[in-house]
Amino acid sequence: MRPRRFLPTGPLTGRIRVPGDKSISHRSIMLGALAVGETRVTGLLEGEDVLATAAAMRAMGASVERLGDGEWRVSGVGVGALLQPEAALDMGNSGTSTRLLMGLVSSHPITASFVGDASLSKRPMGRVIEPLSRMGADFTASPGGTLPLMLRGAAPAVPIEYRLPVASAQVKSAILLAGLNTPGITTVIEPVPTRDHSERMLRGFGAQLDVETDADGVRTIRIVGEAELRPQVIEVPGDPSSAAFFIVAALIVPGSDVVIENVGLNPTRAGLIEVLRLMGGQIDELNPREVGGEPVADLHVRHSVLTGIAVDPAVAPSMIDEFPALFVAAALAQGRTVTTGLDELRVKESDRLAVMAAALTAAGARVSETEDGLIIDGTGGDPLPGTGHAIATHLDHRIAMSMAVAGLVSTNGVEVDDTRPIATSFPVFEALLDGLRG
Ligand code: S3P
Repeated sequence: MRPRRFLPTGPLTGRIRVPGDKSISHRSIMLGALAVGETRVTGLLEGEDVLATAAAMRAMGASVERLGDGEWRVSGVGVGALLQPEAALDMGNSGTSTRLLMGLVSSHPITASFVGDASLSKRPMGRVIEPLSRMGADFTASPGGTLPLMLRGAAPAVPIEYRLPVASAQVKSAILLAGLNTPGITTVIEPVPTRDHSERMLRGFGAQLDVETDADGVRTIRIVGEAELRPQVIEVPGDPSSAAFFIVAALIVPGSDVVIENVGLNPTRAGLIEVLRLMGGQIDELNPREVGGEPVADLHVRHSVLTGIAVDPAVAPSMIDEFPALFVAAALAQGRTVTTGLDELRVKESDRLAVMAAALTAAGARVSETEDGLIIDGTGGDPLPGTGHAIATHLDHRIAMSMAVAGLVSTNGVEVDDTRPIATSFPVFEALLDGLRG
């Protein structure tokens, strides 16, 4: 364990650049490994989760090499040509690696074991096991449909039409990736839109994929199997989910004025910015442009008086990883913030409703937990008292970073029990934060 007390600070000022998007980084390596030839990636996130994906693709025959800072070369084996890994695939803390790779393996004639850390080993895999079994893959999972599990892929797999029972980009992506090596057309019906990086990138790599959206916003995604992918040159935009901690920090620390460069603003990811603006947050987009086929801008964020709101549950999928940061903003806002419809937060790296309720309460915030959300009565900008004992982060990087931000506007500081998990998604978080404190 590596504990740290995050202390109150003066204004945050300066410019930072957050690392590459985690979702896009995983997919760059996976799709690069399935294209024949050399894919070049710049701005790749070199966090532990993405490195787990890189190691797994190497274990299945691709060459994945680091050339420099964020600069990687992937030489792929071609769709259908993944090799049998010799040892268990160690997924560490990464749900995205696990679920997407389960999709890939499911339509290859190989058997793979998946293992992970204590947090990942509690997370539900039934949501991918169910559709991938229908495609013909065979699973032996631990009780409750968890890791460790063994997966025997089907060759050929059977194309399915599947309506997602939960709003999950990981489940959608697992099925689409399985569909890449499945004869015929695999169809995913998505009643509530989730991040669409897989669709954008599969098309970019040359897969035949089309999306139809009906009058109710229901998306039907079809992918033609036995695809041939062409290698790509990919520039990964900055991760809005990492920028989130600095957006909230700059809004709540009095006197702050920060520019966060190169933030991905794909509409399926930008819900937090929308919600914080509704709360009164001053967040301006400078220099809007496109990077790697995604909308991007530099964000200018200034300290703001925030007001609590009832957050529309419909925005949840577009900010699913940002609720811990939002809860911190709400704890410092004026009045009450009410969130609902957040059952999915209970099956992330930790139960983020229970863990954030406990952590913020320990720091002196007024929080109550409901079945599917939190109700938070903010301080109106006054510092939180802070914690005596260390806060339990339960191997969850986003809890650690959120509570670090809470510590910046506290009287006694906030102690986080373990900062190591931050390296899964944002290894330079503490260095960037310390740099902005001047
Ligand atoms: C991700 C999808 C989301 C998100 C995760 C990354 C992805 O998970 O929480 O951090 O890259 O597809 P769910 O699909 O479980 O909502």
